[in-house]
Amino acid sequence: MKKLLELLGEEVKKCFKEAGYDDERITVTVSNRPDLCEYQCNGAMALAKQAHKAPIDIAEEVVTKIRTSDFFSKVECVKPGFINLDINDVFLASYLEQEAVSDRFGMEPSDTGKVIVDYGGPNVAKPLHIGHLRAAIIGEAVKRISKYVGNDTLGDIHMGDWGLQMGLIIAEMQDRKMTGMPTLDELSEIYPAASEKSKNDEAFKEKAMDITYELQHGNEEYLKIWRHIMDISVADLKQNYDRLNVSFEVWKGESDADPYIAPMVEKMKNDGYAYQSRGALVVDVAEENDAKEVPPCMILKSDGAALYTTTDLATLVQREEDYDPDAVIYVVDKRQELHFVQVFRAAKKCGIVPDRTRLSFLGFGTMNGQDGKPFKTRSGGVMRLETLLEEVNEKCLERMIENGTDMSETELKDTAGKIALAAIKYGDLSNEARKDYVFDIDKFTSFEGNTGPYILYTMVRIKSILRKYREGGNETEILKILPPASADEKALMMTLTGFVPMLEGAWKDIAPHRICAYIYQVANDFNKFYHGTRILAEPDKNRQGGWIALITLTLKILETAVELLGFEAPEAM
Ligand code: ARG
Repeated sequence: MKKLLELLGEEVKKCFKEAGYDDERITVTVSNRPDLCEYQCNGAMALAKQAHKAPIDIAEEVVTKIRTSDFFSKVECVKPGFINLDINDVFLASYLEQEAVSDRFGMEPSDTGKVIVDYGGPNVAKPLHIGHLRAAIIGEAVKRISKYVGNDTLGDIHMGDWGLQMGLIIAEMQDRKMTGMPTLDELSEIYPAASEKSKNDEAFKEKAMDITYELQHGNEEYLKIWRHIMDISVADLKQNYDRLNVSFEVWKGESDADPYIAPMVEKMKNDGYAYQSRGALVVDVAEENDAKEVPPCMILKSDGAALYTTTDLATLVQREEDYDPDAVIYVVDKRQELHFVQVFRAAKKCGIVPDRTRLSFLGFGTMNGQDGKPFKTRSGGVMRLETLLEEVNEKCLERMIENGTDMSETELKDTAGKIALAAIKYGDLSNEARKDYVFDIDKFTSFEGNTGPYILYTMVRIKSILRKYREGGNETEILKILPPASADEKALMMTLTGFVPMLEGAWKDIAPHRICAYIYQVANDFNKFYHGTRILAEPDKNRQGGWIALITLTLKILETAVELLGFEAPEAM
């Protein structure tokens, strides 16, 4: 289905042509003076010079043609040569009706590819904390958007499962003379203790490093413990991500890249890209136009150990082999940007990924507390993800009870959980990913304003109207959207025509925050329309049916959008 602006543009271009002006530059845009008109065309100005005519004269000629068009209800020319347009209500309704009955709201199938979204990146055996929240939330949204627009998409969690933390845990287990395998609870106590100990105890740290080395070089005893830790940690991670409505198609980690490292390094050396520099093996990745210095990408340390860059490069080797992706998108803390610049450049330079493969880095900012510093617990510690979720759940429950509710205990809990997730995710996603933001629990959980709960509240309101309408013995499937009866209704309709273009832009620029901005607009437009329209009390059944069809589409669009953002609306709240 063509986009509305495309259709309007083509129509106006046709009128220009009929008036003798055939030009590719004629387009229609949304008016930047909504007080004067809905759309505008500035084509006459562009043509004036070449036509040796005043723009206003060209506009006048064209306007007589546009006046006969079914697409517009008002056509005016304004000095120096603007053409101001209002869309015809009948045309708008039929366009929206087509959108309502089309698959994916009429989104055209575009050329689609294979996409891997690398997000989450938790470090196994360390508890999930607040730092992992943004990766999970944003990554999940990006993955869902990618799927929706038609890409064959995989989310890969890329666990940090091969590092020093494993050596630290095993060293601590040895110190404690533990014979059996640790439980999850023990693990969550052992790791912080070991990490703390290694800060003051050189010998202990040394031992942990040796164990890490041996583990990475196939020590069976250590591998056995490692496998056990992986099993219980992955089960725990799954549960935690589940609660966030986040899931991964691929559960690989840094350890899976290990077998690819040696042959990759060999090839980099043989091809002449990697060379020894002060003992280390490096690849130059600086480019002429770099504003800031980009240091060489380290491939192996002087002791032969692999680095973070090495595993990421080897993971790309593995991804090429397994999936041959068209794009790999990394959703990681923006402080890691330089790392990814180096990895991407080295990957292209050394031929690990072909030139056509798009490697993107979506670096996100920090989630701060009210004090503007990285979010902490009240006592100043790192907050566990579970704790944060519980606190927000609690707050939402409080608000619901305050508002008065007759829900059963279980319903209440379930609903509060849904609202809490919306509060957290919308609070995060409504900010441009790159920016830092302040986690404000009172603001995020409010049922009013630019918040997740406000969006849900709007959806629940629509659901309730539709329920009552159906309870009155009416069917909703057969209804058609009618031309608007008020300015507010028209505004809502026009906003609804913008879903597909918005989503395509959000995908192209990897910008989930656009979805938030859009649904906030939809919710505001709907509520304005709702307050001025007594839908259920309307005596004209035809009129009422049109409204029901319109709000059905509104709900469908909101549902699709929040699904992409990774949350959902309850039935009541
Ligand atoms: N585990 C890493 C960390 O905690 C994040 C991994 C991000 N993804 C990647 N492919 N490097 O910093």
